Amino acid sequence: MKLFDVYPVQDINIVRAKDSYVWDEQGVQYLDMYGGHAVISIGHTHPHWVQRITDQLNRIAFYSNSVQIPIQQELATIMERVSGKKDYQLFLVNSGAEANENAMKLASFHTGRKKILAFSKSFHGRTSLAVAATDNKSIVAPVNETDHIDFIPFNDAAALETYFKANGSDLAAVIIETIQGVGGINVADEAFLKLLRSLCDRNGALLIADEVQCGFGRTGKFFAIDHAGIEADIYSMAKGMGNGFPVGGILIAPHIKPKHGMLGTTFGGNHLACAAALAVLEVMEREDLIEKARQRGQYLMNKLKKIDGLENIRGMGLMIGFDVPSDFRDLRRNLLSAHHIFTGEAKPNVIRLLPALSISRKQMDEFLEAIEEEVEALRKGEEKEEVMPERES
Ligand SMILES: Cc1ncc(COP(=O)(O)O)c(C=O)c1O
Repeated sequence: MKLFDVYPVQDINIVRAKDSYVWDEQGVQYLDMYGGHAVISIGHTHPHWVQRITDQLNRIAFYSNSVQIPIQQELATIMERVSGKKDYQLFLVNSGAEANENAMKLASFHTGRKKILAFSKSFHGRTSLAVAATDNKSIVAPVNETDHIDFIPFNDAAALETYFKANGSDLAAVIIETIQGVGGINVADEAFLKLLRSLCDRNGALLIADEVQCGFGRTGKFFAIDHAGIEADIYSMAKGMGNGFPVGGILIAPHIKPKHGMLGTTFGGNHLACAAALAVLEVMEREDLIEKARQRGQYLMNKLKKIDGLENIRGMGLMIGFDVPSDFRDLRRNLLSAHHIFTGEAKPNVIRLLPALSISRKQMDEFLEAIEEEVEALRKGEEKEEVMPERES
């Protein structure tokens, strides 16, 4: 049987990983500045994470949500402490798309309304509502097309006010990434987020913060929207939450009340996924990784700003992007083929850095040296040996 061929892949087989390094089957070491697509938060195969999952696996991996699963409450308790979201409620799922799907569905149940507002260049996942709220027509199937979702430009306060004036009373929710990931590391302005919060309040609409990529400590606060000093009604999470184990969730404000049967899932909140997410939060606390992400991100950003030729360096903490001018279009491929460094991209010309929050100064310096060398070589028009095919993120 063939695999359904939807991913353009690099010809590399990664067989082992530790912290911020991965190795292929020939034993070649790669530096992971991409965090396996923003997924690796506490470092690949962190010993505490491996131990917790192994211990759990030896006891029980799964039983249905029809019985008591105390490890879910254990996870909720530590989540409240680390996130600082007092009295929020946790609903567990398996992926980012599923988190957003449930967030929007819950907003509709809660308000009794149908309309959702999303923004240009947004990415919220590939399931029905999540993909409909994603600003990329090429991945929306005809069956996913809906009039219930509207788009306005990101960071455009005037467009936001106009939209609310016309549609505010029909709006169930607004969904926003404080830092757009797939869209190219676009940071929402603090003033824009504050305006959004107050317009939602005045119109009885919920604010959904899609923190799947920018959340879970990556920006130097637990949620990226925390930098704006406002609260969302629902936060969606996945990626870094499990450090590679598939787990997602939504944090739900206390004013939103549950009802039996309202939401549900077979696998969401299974014992093994909870053990993985618990291990991530325990390590984040013990190793002070959120503060480290802030400091290390600042260091990386300052150094990148000194490299002549990289443009519009932006982001927060360890979620950083910059534009690559057309003369340097081979930069990302050369970093991989000549220096064995994985980075992310966003079309058409953005390099995205999403390393583990545990990345060391030495590893960042290794990356900085390589990128300086490559920029210099590209400036001089030096030829590089044959490179590998592109992979889309
Ligand atoms: C902001 C954002 N939301 C949602 C998703 C979808 O997550 P998943 O691929 O786990 O469904 C992604 C994935 O890249 C994302 O970046």
